[in-house]
Amino acid sequence: MSGQHLDSNCVTLTRFVLAEQSKVPYATGELTQLLNAIQTAVKVISSAVRRAGITQLFGMAGETNVQGEEVKKLDVLANDLFINMLKSSYTAALLISEENETVIEVETERRGKYIVAFDPLDGSSNIDCLVSIGSIFAIMKKEDNSIPSLKDALQPGTKVVAAGYALYGSATMMVLSLGNSVNGFMLDPSIGEFILTDKNMRIPSKGKIYAINEGYTHQWDEAVKEYVNNKKDPAKGKTYNARYVGSMVADVHRTIKYGGIFIYPATTSSPKGKLRLLYECIPMAHIVTNAGGLASNGKIPILDVQPQGLHDRSPIFLGSKEDVEDILEIIKKHEKK
Ligand code: AHG
Ligand code: MN
Ligand code: MN
Repeated sequence: MSGQHLDSNCVTLTRFVLAEQSKVPYATGELTQLLNAIQTAVKVISSAVRRAGITQLFGMAGETNVQGEEVKKLDVLANDLFINMLKSSYTAALLISEENETVIEVETERRGKYIVAFDPLDGSSNIDCLVSIGSIFAIMKKEDNSIPSLKDALQPGTKVVAAGYALYGSATMMVLSLGNSVNGFMLDPSIGEFILTDKNMRIPSKGKIYAINEGYTHQWDEAVKEYVNNKKDPAKGKTYNARYVGSMVADVHRTIKYGGIFIYPATTSSPKGKLRLLYECIPMAHIVTNAGGLASNGKIPILDVQPQGLHDRSPIFLGSKEDVEDILEIIKKHEKK
């Protein structure tokens, strides 16, 4: 077993995925290969993030992306890594990235059966001040043998095969939702491997924390205002703590670990919310739902939403089951008015 705190039988992420895949009849190993490609991208991003200040990786790349947002150098590096590693894994047919306006087709010779949607670097505004950032991905299957096209990318969350995120925080961690469970793997930088540390992650059924950008209070609808006010009013029950990192990965990871709710609602200036369905809301909804929580757009589960466009946005209410149910009830009450 373990000597000097080193485990001679440690479960690496690759070992874990191999064991999971061996339970699936006729599994070809393609998904294991695909997840290995993502692991490599994440390891390089993690190393780049840790050294960004020294290697002149902070700051702007001098471009704006499809969303009209300014792109940082780390956004570009992370995006190139995801694209190059996935294309060369021979497992993907089509890639969808926050940073690319259209779908990225994999050349015929390197084509596989999966579709991967990703946010290569989440929380860009936190890069230069060393606050936690992340990467997010969702994996779907190509449903037929036709030439890959936009329709293959526009699949609802119910079709997701696996989803995950990497958090570049005080340590680097990968959380993977595969089959019916969610597991967390900490990167051991001394060996360059992800080690299973958080087995079968379950989100508490109720928390004590709410996470929302309160600077937009004046832009919220009445239901969101009422819910957040309740969380601050001792007359309405025990008050909650406010926590908001501004990197979805960090806010969602804390919500899974400690419980509570993460909200990015519709605002008057962003009537569909800010966060993107395919590579932010859907993967996070898959993970949180698989960990026993809920994720809704305020009307229906995020996983039931049919994406219409690659960069569709959606309001999101995600977290502990009871906390999300509470706000959904308030939304319903206001709709009846
Ligand atoms: P990205 O850096 O990939 O563009 O995503 C930023 C997102 C998300 O991480 C976070 O939850 C949200 O933007 C914060 O937005 P506000 O600054 O409007 O609160
Ligand atoms: Mn993002
Ligand atoms: Mn991003």
